[in-house]
Amino acid sequence: MIHQTSVLVLLICLGIFVVVGGLLFYAVVRYRRRTDDDDTTEPPQVYGSTAIELAWTVPPILIVVVLALATARTVGEIQSPKFAADPLQVRIVGHRFWWELHYPKYNIVTANEIHVPVSYLSTPRPIELTLASADVAHGFWVPELNGKQWLVPDKETKWWIQPTSLGIYLGNCTVLCGYQHANMLIRVVVEPPEEFEKWVARQQQPPNPDASTEAGHKAFESNSCGSCHTIDGTNSQGIFGPNLTHFMSRQTLGAGVAPNDDANLKSWLHDPQVLKPGCLMPDMKLDQTQFDEILAYLKTLN
Ligand code: CUA
Repeated sequence: MIHQTSVLVLLICLGIFVVVGGLLFYAVVRYRRRTDDDDTTEPPQVYGSTAIELAWTVPPILIVVVLALATARTVGEIQSPKFAADPLQVRIVGHRFWWELHYPKYNIVTANEIHVPVSYLSTPRPIELTLASADVAHGFWVPELNGKQWLVPDKETKWWIQPTSLGIYLGNCTVLCGYQHANMLIRVVVEPPEEFEKWVARQQQPPNPDASTEAGHKAFESNSCGSCHTIDGTNSQGIFGPNLTHFMSRQTLGAGVAPNDDANLKSWLHDPQVLKPGCLMPDMKLDQTQFDEILAYLKTLN
């Protein structure tokens, strides 16, 4: 849509360039100074010409009207795309400073990394996004996939993306929402449909109960981690922080602030304020035993 409009604009501009440039070139060549010019008299002076004034007023107005109508149609098409009968829907709730993600059709809740299947050009399948906010205004923007859209408290906004190439697309919150606004990063993971189905199946499973990490599970709950975080199939059902059911399947920590590797996970668990100062997860002041137990437990959440 944008491509067609830009081609139209380019062609109109090209036409104007050819006409103006052509007339200029003609005038320069045709009326250039010649050796037999009579420099003592002025060339004929023309004052007021209805025909010429109409010529430089009416066509430009018509051109502007055509460009405005074409642009308005494109903007309208972008804001209300035609979805397939049953589009993939993702509900995105902005929090200070992370993204809560729901896939209502699949009953999945996750955070920060939006997995979607690639859309083939032969069968375009836009993905419908419903945006909301749990606290203050945020902005959703993945520049390579679409423009910006607001997430506003007490209101739902609609948006969409339609990635046609595989890969990971990065975005960020666009509305200043607090100290860690700049570290409220979005990752859109665009996968082949089969890979996406595998991801869905994995996310739908509760984590494997692992007897060796039962102590970590208990420590997690006794330190009230579960008041903020949900882990499916356990007593931890908090919704204030990101859902950790499949935490290890995510590539980053703290909404993109650091890769989800061993060193960063230890730093985060020791004190989240080191990697992300001002984030709403406090330093839990775990003793070494609890730290080790919870770390081992978290690593099984994949
Ligand atoms: Cu959320 Cu800035």
